[in-house]
Amino acid sequence: MGAFWDDCSSSAGSFFAQRIFGGFMGGFVLTAALVSLSSRILGVDVSPLPALLPALGLFSRRKTSEKKKIRVYMDGCFDMMHYGHANALRQARALGDELVVGVVSDEEIIANKGPPVMSLDERMVMVSGVKWVDEVIPGAPYAINEKFMKKLFTVYNIDYIIHGDDPCLLPDGSDAYELAKKAGRYKQIKRTEGVSSTDIVGRMLLCIRDRQSNENQNHASLQREFSHGHGNKAENGNTTSSTRISNFLPTSRRIVQFSNGKGPGPHARIVYMDGAFDLFHAGHVQILRRARELGDFLLVGIHTDQTVSSNRGPHHPIMNLHERSLSVLACRYVDEVIIGAPWTVTKDMITTFNISLVVHGTVAENNDLTSEENDPYKAAKELGIFRVIESPLTITTTTIIKRIFANHEAYKKRNDRKVESEKKYYESKVFISGD
Ligand SMILES: *[C@@H]1O[C@H](CO)[C@@H](O)[C@H](O)[C@H]1NC(C)=O
Ligand SMILES: *[C@@H]1O[C@H](CO)[C@@H](O)[C@H](O)[C@H]1NC(C)=O
Repeated sequence: MGAFWDDCSSSAGSFFAQRIFGGFMGGFVLTAALVSLSSRILGVDVSPLPALLPALGLFSRRKTSEKKKIRVYMDGCFDMMHYGHANALRQARALGDELVVGVVSDEEIIANKGPPVMSLDERMVMVSGVKWVDEVIPGAPYAINEKFMKKLFTVYNIDYIIHGDDPCLLPDGSDAYELAKKAGRYKQIKRTEGVSSTDIVGRMLLCIRDRQSNENQNHASLQREFSHGHGNKAENGNTTSSTRISNFLPTSRRIVQFSNGKGPGPHARIVYMDGAFDLFHAGHVQILRRARELGDFLLVGIHTDQTVSSNRGPHHPIMNLHERSLSVLACRYVDEVIIGAPWTVTKDMITTFNISLVVHGTVAENNDLTSEENDPYKAAKELGIFRVIESPLTITTTTIIKRIFANHEAYKKRNDRKVESEKKYYESKVFISGD
């Protein structure tokens, strides 16, 4: 096995990847560091420790401030990233002070599970955009070999390697985290229930199939393959069912965990951007970054399921309102979301939230805002506070659905393999505490 991984984790390869990434993302790492610094100082973390410190005396105070930061490492493919991934990163970060994330290379994903839907660049944008991530290592190996583990401990100063409680098996059936466990540097987090990429792909295929109805037999069988994901009740072959029920159970605590918990400062310039933000992707992250740069506080309006459905068709959105809200909330450029924003940005809304700029990207699912009578931004335009901003990427939700479909044979194979391990996981599942 060692020889197999050697190519992928060679430091030359990794260095090269980092160089490419540096050019691609510009000053990201610095930004991430600043964000994490300020969130630690201004954050909502009301741990009793700081209050106790003065009572403990000078000695222990100095000792605490000199304490080495605990650095934790988590890796993954982060393909078709969803709020379950974001939640895992949040939990991992809570086990230390700094979170370093390894994003597996395209080649490694192909070798281990079939082609990814998103490229490494896109997956890097997604992971870097999560507010609990401090550093990202592009092109990480799929399984942590001896050499890479050593590098994590010595070069990246990692204290612990983190993974969820779901099994991560290599093609030969061995445990991908065995080495880390043996080294006593492994910590586990609880898997986020109610969502999996398998399930999301299933929802997408359902929406394609129904649109093209009886055009292609393949679609129906393909959709069935993908709908083997856990807990889907629509497995009785009833192809007339139109809406897929999400297993996600939104709790108020989860929303609080994802929130920044603070409003705008006294003279903050508030920027507003609205949309469906369905299948939250790299294009969303990049446009939100642009929007945030135009002010001090970014308020994002997430359209209701009904609004999205009436604009895009009966099987949209793919992700429901709460799922979409969590994905947007996990983004480091977002300060606050409105869970269920109206289609039209009214003058009253602008006043209520003290919005000083309303923005809209050049790349959007339906961008014919030219029809005068139905323009959602009419009020903002009249106030002279509306601005169209250039979308850095051309990717949309439709792009993703098309990719899934174009490559369906490969995804079908990949899913067949996943079904077995998912089934085993759910059969042997026990309660694990933590959130
Ligand atoms: C399938 O859908 C039809 C029409 O909506 C319904 O009458 C039938 O009971 C459904 N069958 C199952 C097994 O759910
Ligand atoms: C409203 O926003 C403006 C910036 O556009 C800011 O100067 C002003 O202080 C804000 N008002 C309040 C009450 O925060």
